[in-house]
Amino acid sequence: MKQKIRVLLVCLGNICRSPLAAAILQMHLKQRKLENYFFIDSAGTSDYHVGASSDARAVSVAADYGVSLQHLARQFKTEDFAAFDYILVMDHLNYDAVISHANVAEYYDKVFLVRTFDDQANGLYDVPDPYYGSDEDFAEVCDILKRSLAGFIDFLQQEGELHVE
Ligand code: 4NP
Repeated sequence: MKQKIRVLLVCLGNICRSPLAAAILQMHLKQRKLENYFFIDSAGTSDYHVGASSDARAVSVAADYGVSLQHLARQFKTEDFAAFDYILVMDHLNYDAVISHANVAEYYDKVFLVRTFDDQANGLYDVPDPYYGSDEDFAEVCDILKRSLAGFIDFLQQEGELHVE
């Protein structure tokens, strides 16, 4: 494979769902020995928590899954469209916020609701925002993200995007 596949995970605050999603994607890639073929980052559509560490509940649930969160929050910017191949958003609000920055037609095609790849989505395409929720809500987010991101890697393989030599 010539170039790394660049994937940006996006939520609202970049302290709960998207850093968890980035870490879970890294975990899946490591298990499949594909980590060298990817560049992964995360961002938030808001500036509410720029520079902050991930939410303590996200760090805790990630640790339960054997995943370490060390991200500092940053805000999504228009330049991210050129810098990434896939922009995976957590919910419809994130989708609308990201798309509002798309000033080139091809950029629209880079943006996906991450639950598009969840084989148990059952028509619910939002990853619920756990910020005002409980520890159980964070665990549910983890389960959704594990399925969705495994599905995303399967999608890339089916599309022939992963030409591992
Ligand atoms: P996230 O969760 O988008 O998954 O990082 C949130 C974090 C902060 C806020 C909302 C959601 N907030 O309103 O500050």
